[in-house]
Amino acid sequence: MKDRVPFGITELDNLIEGGLPRGGLVIIAGSPGAGKTILSAQFIYNGVTLYNEKGIYACLSESRENFKNNMLGLGWDFNKLEEKGMIRIIELPTAVKLRVEDMINLIVEEVKRFKAQRLVVDSLSALNLALGSKAEVRTLINLLVRMLKNIGCTTLMITESPWGTTGIGMGIEEFIADGIILMESVVVGNKLERRLMVLKMRATSHDTRYYRLNIVKGSGINLSIYPEM
Ligand SMILES: Nc1ncnc2c1ncn2[C@@H]1O[C@H](COP(=O)(O)OP(=O)(O)O)[C@@H](O)[C@H]1O
Ligand SMILES: [Mg+2]
Repeated sequence: MKDRVPFGITELDNLIEGGLPRGGLVIIAGSPGAGKTILSAQFIYNGVTLYNEKGIYACLSESRENFKNNMLGLGWDFNKLEEKGMIRIIELPTAVKLRVEDMINLIVEEVKRFKAQRLVVDSLSALNLALGSKAEVRTLINLLVRMLKNIGCTTLMITESPWGTTGIGMGIEEFIADGIILMESVVVGNKLERRLMVLKMRATSHDTRYYRLNIVKGSGINLSIYPEM
């Protein structure tokens, strides 16, 4: 049996042989409002409540308080998990002059100290802003991937794709990552629709179809198959 780290969302876990490869780094790529933050938060929340795995959520594009309030709106009390000592939500301001290497070191140190088995970085795009060249991004992500694999921490890294673009990130991280889950919000007819597809998952015979995605208060991310066209 391969060692898998489930989301705790049955329909999604079924697409990827039960979960993410343990210790892997998987990119959640997509447009604004597609549900990237919600899916990643659910990964951490379920990690604690269903699998007893500690998690760290690194907020780079919004404040801790904002994040917790938004998730409370979905029925998830992150304060309670924090008080139990099962999660840490760290806020890393990207505007101040903290070097990206220092920021990555800070995250990895925290993962080690806290013995986190799950990590979310929301988002890499916020980090990218502070980076100079593509070579720098590659070096840093390579370093991060190796360090996290060593400590066996399974990581979701969010990348933001601006509206109307088809690219995933900077064109670097997607090659290094162990997996890519694409999340889109698209206008269909006169309404917004969300969908998800697994683009890549190393060592996994994964599903290759688009799934309709709904966000439901209380249960979070819901997937349903499109009728065959
Ligand atoms: N309580 C809720 N119930 C249903 N949908 C919600 C709720 N809270 C937020 N949403 C939906 O989720 C979207 C934001 O999802 P989010 O994960 O933050 O997107 P992003 O991909 O930008 O990180 C909102 O635009 C809204 O449509
Ligand atoms: Mg977000």
